[in-house]
Amino acid sequence: MEAVNFDDYSRDYIDIMNQQHQKYGDISYYSKQKAVIARELTNKSTTKILEFGCGIGRNLQFLQEEFPDAAIYASDISQESLDIAQHSNPNIKFLKDEELHTYNDFFDLIFIAGVYHHIPPKTRLEVTKNIFKLLKERGRVLCFEHNPYNPLTQHMVNTCEFDRDAVLLTQKELHKLFKESGFEEFENGYILFVPPKLQILNFIEKPLRFLPLGGQYYVSALKKEQKN
Ligand SMILES: C[S@@+](CC[C@H](N)C(=O)[O-])C[C@H]1O[C@@H](n2cnc3c(N)ncnc32)[C@H](O)[C@@H]1O
Repeated sequence: MEAVNFDDYSRDYIDIMNQQHQKYGDISYYSKQKAVIARELTNKSTTKILEFGCGIGRNLQFLQEEFPDAAIYASDISQESLDIAQHSNPNIKFLKDEELHTYNDFFDLIFIAGVYHHIPPKTRLEVTKNIFKLLKERGRVLCFEHNPYNPLTQHMVNTCEFDRDAVLLTQKELHKLFKESGFEEFENGYILFVPPKLQILNFIEKPLRFLPLGGQYYVSALKKEQKN
């Protein structure tokens, strides 16, 4: 299966998402929930944050709201997506994928949402090892993915044109990738049990994080200290 080039979808990305989710409510709710979890898992010393695979920048405003004092960076392999993201996020520093390696040992937090299912399975370990290098010692990765055990998520992915290259991975598979790349002290959870329209009920989300039925999940872990 040929990889989807997000340059081809950058302009229509929001419309496609809104159309798919119109029954369930405002899609910015998903971004907000992810940024809130990022805040929950980190401490005050989180001052340099990268959103890896930021796309057109849907999550950046919410990361800024949760981390008002942090320097926020964003990268993607799709230049057209980065151009759109840059237009609406003047306070973010945008990085091309090729220059990321000059930021090794730099970030306190790397936030990733909906990217891994687009990375071909063969290259996922290599990409994860590079993400590991970008973090400072004891820096945190937080990666959100679609939950293949949730039938509605499966349906959404199967009917979304820019997901035609998607190879979903389970929480266990993502955990294994991060562990093999040197991460430790995992904190994982399932999320998005409640759609945006029913967000008044979102107090049930936290107690349900153990249940592998949420629409998405996250895997989060720390970069091991390097012993000399
Ligand atoms: C479904 S979009 C998600 C965008 C954004 N994270 C969000 O939540 O709206 C997937 C993004 O991952 C990017 N992507 C795919 N493979 C990548 C890779 N190897 N490195 C960086 N970004 C990648 C795509 O260009 C696309 O912008």
